Amino acid sequence: MSQNIRIPVYQPWLCGNEERYVLDCLRSNWISSKGAYITAFEDRFAATVGVRHAISVCNGTVALHVALAALGIGPGDEVIVPTFTYIAPVNAIVYCGATPVFVDSDPHTWQLDPTDVYRRITSRTKAILAVHLYGQPAEMDALSSLAREHGLFLVEDCAEAFGARYRGNHVGTFGDIATFSFYGNKTITTGEGGMVVTSDDMLAERVHRLKGQGLAPYREYWHDIVGYNYRMTNIAAAIGLAQLENAELFLTRKRAIAKCYRQLLADTPLEFQHEAPNTEHSWWMVSVLTPTAHDRDILRSELRRAGIETRPTFYPVHTMPMYSQRYERHRIAESLGLRGINLPSYPALGDDQIEEICHIIGNVAARFPSEPEQHHPRSPIPAPMQ
Ligand SMILES: Cc1ncc(COP(=O)(O)O)c(C=O)c1O
Repeated sequence: MSQNIRIPVYQPWLCGNEERYVLDCLRSNWISSKGAYITAFEDRFAATVGVRHAISVCNGTVALHVALAALGIGPGDEVIVPTFTYIAPVNAIVYCGATPVFVDSDPHTWQLDPTDVYRRITSRTKAILAVHLYGQPAEMDALSSLAREHGLFLVEDCAEAFGARYRGNHVGTFGDIATFSFYGNKTITTGEGGMVVTSDDMLAERVHRLKGQGLAPYREYWHDIVGYNYRMTNIAAAIGLAQLENAELFLTRKRAIAKCYRQLLADTPLEFQHEAPNTEHSWWMVSVLTPTAHDRDILRSELRRAGIETRPTFYPVHTMPMYSQRYERHRIAESLGLRGINLPSYPALGDDQIEEICHIIGNVAARFPSEPEQHHPRSPIPAPMQ
């Protein structure tokens, strides 16, 4: 982190048993990927989410890879994925040799638009990969119906949505299989880490096998499929267990932070990501849109000057060089990618700090143009590569 950042956009809160559990690993020599903390973390995570199986892995990207591999997704298959997302789910599709098919987003919740999903289903479509972006659940009723009617797998990327609920149920319980990330900026962290969850016994068994070098359960050092080493360490799981013990504290504080931002910025032209009816946003990152892309850049640099770190929302993946040969427009995603800001959202952020951030935002926003530009003020689509 740069030296003059006083308020980072995120930082973990290691306020519980983390140190004690890690020391226990070191003193007992259980530092690798076997040990009691692995099982304890997996069991408690499964119970928290409400699934039969939670299988730990070493990060959220490989969680996605192994989940898709367990479903048998491979060359020739298409997987529908939002373009407005972090890159990892799209990369995981490509690791499997399948083709990502991008869909646009809802302008209010910023989640993949089920109408666009429907339009893009073909005879090659194998799965819908929903990403619960920034902690707001995607529209799971519509996506589940589409998956059921068209015989598709439904995969949930919950990396950013630990604690988010749809109709009272935790995200990750709607699809065939789901994944989480525990990177240092996630609601609960293990430093680097991830989890695959499912209530399907056969899929769980395949994930176990794939993450552990394809080791057969019936003979030592016998491998009957080509697998990977995607295992989590006992030390990481020890941190994860301690974090999980404080999860409610983190989520409650993050909800309060989001409420505080909404109240203090209510009179500005900033538009908050909507919390849809029947959902509980987990407020991983409190995120807003400025009226124009230019306003976003000005606001970010003014905050940066005051030592406050923010993040731009994700550039839609279809605009990146790897996909620029297949020219597409996803106008809502392009607009969200150019006008969005993630505000500091870590649970230890104080009310006085939120007031300071909002005071600066209020001053800058007072100078915004009164007439918002059209959506997609300037295209982020690069020229096709030569
Ligand atoms: C939506 C989403 N999916 C997947 C990942 C990948 O997780 P990891 O960084 O643990 O590999 C992340 C990110 O951090 C993410 O934001």
